[in-house]
Amino acid sequence: MAAAAGLALLAALLAAAGAERGRKVSMEYNPGWNSSSVNLLHVRAVGPEDSLHYVWSSIGAPSVLLVATQSPSSALRVNWTQLLSPNPAGAIWIEPPDSVVYSTAVVFTKLFEFSEAKPLGELFYPTYDLSEFSWDSLNHTLNHTALTAELRGVPATDPSGAFSNGSLAFRVTAYEGSGRAGPLPSLLHTADSSQLEFVLAGVAPRGNGSRFLLQLATVEPAGAARRLRALSSIDDEYTPSIFQVLSLLAEPRNGSSPLAFLQWKATAYGSPSPRREDGIRCRAGGLRQANGSLPVPAVLRAYFGDTLGSSCTVSALNVSFGGEEGQVYQEKRYLSWSVLLGFGEPPQDTFSPLVISITAVALGTPLAVLLLGSCLVLLAQRRRYSEYEPIN
Ligand SMILES: *[C@@H]1O[C@H](CO)[C@@H](O)[C@H](O)[C@H]1NC(C)=O
Ligand SMILES: *[C@@H]1O[C@H](CO)[C@@H](O)[C@H](O)[C@H]1NC(C)=O
Ligand SMILES: *[C@@H]1O[C@H](CO)[C@@H](O)[C@H](O)[C@H]1NC(C)=O
Ligand SMILES: *[C@@H]1O[C@H](CO)[C@@H](O)[C@H](O)[C@H]1NC(C)=O
Repeated sequence: MAAAAGLALLAALLAAAGAERGRKVSMEYNPGWNSSSVNLLHVRAVGPEDSLHYVWSSIGAPSVLLVATQSPSSALRVNWTQLLSPNPAGAIWIEPPDSVVYSTAVVFTKLFEFSEAKPLGELFYPTYDLSEFSWDSLNHTLNHTALTAELRGVPATDPSGAFSNGSLAFRVTAYEGSGRAGPLPSLLHTADSSQLEFVLAGVAPRGNGSRFLLQLATVEPAGAARRLRALSSIDDEYTPSIFQVLSLLAEPRNGSSPLAFLQWKATAYGSPSPRREDGIRCRAGGLRQANGSLPVPAVLRAYFGDTLGSSCTVSALNVSFGGEEGQVYQEKRYLSWSVLLGFGEPPQDTFSPLVISITAVALGTPLAVLLLGSCLVLLAQRRRYSEYEPIN
């Protein structure tokens, strides 16, 4: 499945199909199952020579399975009886199986809440285990035109009553072409990616100025590994003062270009219509090996099989929200964090015309000419993203 040749092929397919010409995206809820007791959303993004599959689900902790295939007609198959049984291994597969070039998965495992308890350090409240949430039916949130859906849930048992007025949600947006999201943090996307927005709304904090920490995990098949990369953003027009872009890259072990990614800016927002001043600092912890220590959702065991624990690498990462401005959530009771996930190389900002002109004024002309020169080179390299350069 993850043979080196296949991985090289993936890069070639993506370069040829998705980013340039776009994809036809369709969404299907619980394909082949007439019940809304569980949530499984299949997003299929078809290009001229390949297709990408995303399987979002709340069977177990919220997760997404990403599969790249070298066939425009590859299809997802689900044996529901088996999927909902105690032995789900083999219940999810792609037809034809040999069209699969690469598979990976992301799981949102836990939400931690803590507050500074001076002088004792951090005081943690009981953890919200996302595999023990009860989720609304995603079916009525599906928008086949906007290509959006929302998975919303609350803890199955909530002794503190913190969720009596609130909920946690994962909002999915799929894309047929390249562009930039409107609301902050205005992430760039391509047809090879989808955006996920994590939203905590109305949930009562259990401490004074307490902060939240989201733990996520990736499942990577043999032949590839995840790495956390932090880049300084050179584009500061869309998210002023946010200079860091973090990417969790899946790379082949022999080290060529990325196979898949999660990418986000180092900020979350404390408002449903975010403005710059609603920013909440977002930090990533270290990436840790987590084989055996994290339960893998049934929907992923259904695809990767029972040997997942030994044949795949499970890595976990904590993303924390708030810092010095830990009071923002206390006041607003709203937290939104956006992340792009997809295949291949993540999209990267280029210098925007505004930044160039400001720099030109600040640095004086000779340096600006130099800078402009390097911009042109960058722009030429990144031509496929040029359509969403601002017009001014
Ligand atoms: C689905 O799985 C069950 C249990 O493993 C099996 O008995 C059944 O034949 C499978 N159905 C199909 C259509 O493959
Ligand atoms: C629930 O929300 C309503 C309206 O926003 C608010 O008036 C009320 O105080 C909230 N209750 C709790 C327990 O937070
Ligand atoms: C919580 O914070 C507020 C404002 O900072 C403060 O007035 C209050 O005493 C704090 N309460 C506790 C229990 O620490
Ligand atoms: C995330 O933070 C929690 C609480 O401090 C800790 O128990 C857990 O091991 C951390 N996970 C990772 C992957 O660092």
